[in-house]
Amino acid sequence: MHAAGLTVVRGPRTVLRGLGFTVPRGQITGLLGPSGCGKSTLMRAIVGTQAKVSGTLDVLGRPAGHPTLRTRVGYVTQSPSVYDDLTVRQNLDYFAAILDPGRAAAGRRRDDVTRAIADVDLTSHTDALAGNLSGGQRGRVSLAVALLGTPELLVLDEPTVGLDPVLRRDLWNLFHHLAATRGATLLVSSHVMDEAERCHRLLLMREGEILADDTPDALRTRTGADTVEAAFLHLVDEAVAAGRTKESAR
Ligand SMILES: Nc1ncnc2c1ncn2[C@@H]1O[C@H](COP(=O)(O)OP(=O)(O)OP(=O)(O)O)[C@@H](O)[C@H]1O
Ligand SMILES: [Mg+2]
Repeated sequence: MHAAGLTVVRGPRTVLRGLGFTVPRGQITGLLGPSGCGKSTLMRAIVGTQAKVSGTLDVLGRPAGHPTLRTRVGYVTQSPSVYDDLTVRQNLDYFAAILDPGRAAAGRRRDDVTRAIADVDLTSHTDALAGNLSGGQRGRVSLAVALLGTPELLVLDEPTVGLDPVLRRDLWNLFHHLAATRGATLLVSSHVMDEAERCHRLLLMREGEILADDTPDALRTRTGADTVEAAFLHLVDEAVAAGRTKESAR
């Protein structure tokens, strides 16, 4: 994935300001930054559902939102989008039918659904109504929907929010498994900086701009910080100081 001069305007505000970055294939890239910095907006631009996007944005070799990307990209929104009055399997059957109607006859769909449910560790809840699941379990149903059809790119908006440490670890293990064994590319947003350490690469955002596009190790080394959180704060201070210098030069 490659972006240049990527800008998004929402109402009176420019919420993404000429972003440039590259997301390598087959790796996990973390998208980190404080609430309101533009993570969800950027993810919507990548999956092609954001209005008023300008600049260049290529996804898996196509312009973002290209119809052929529909089955190649899986997207999980910040709030779980599942039907409470359907069971886990019924939810997945429903989304599988929408995703690829032609597949129905082949019986492949049932395998896809069973595998996606197993991927997110919900096999024992296959026939439970989604409305009776916990928040974390519902989030995992959403993730299973995104895993249908084995997407090459997974865009996950804060998938671990509200999960206990064990589930968070299990999900991160699944992300690594998907990257390592299926060659999947993952873009995972979070505002919990300790999750940064689990990513191959990081995009650090602040106020609609990219502060850094690097590996966790390189970030720590470059800033002389012990943690990604400290590196982030260092970069924020630098950006603020640079802004002040610009102001006083005017
Ligand atoms: N419908 C809207 N119209 C105008 N501006 C909006 C709208 N929705 C969000 N924004 C603004 O866009 C900016 C980026 O929002 P976005 O949801 O992308 O942030 P985020 O990084 O995902 O935040 P969070 O971590 O809280 O999910 C915010 O400053 C927000 O105020
Ligand atoms: Mg968001």
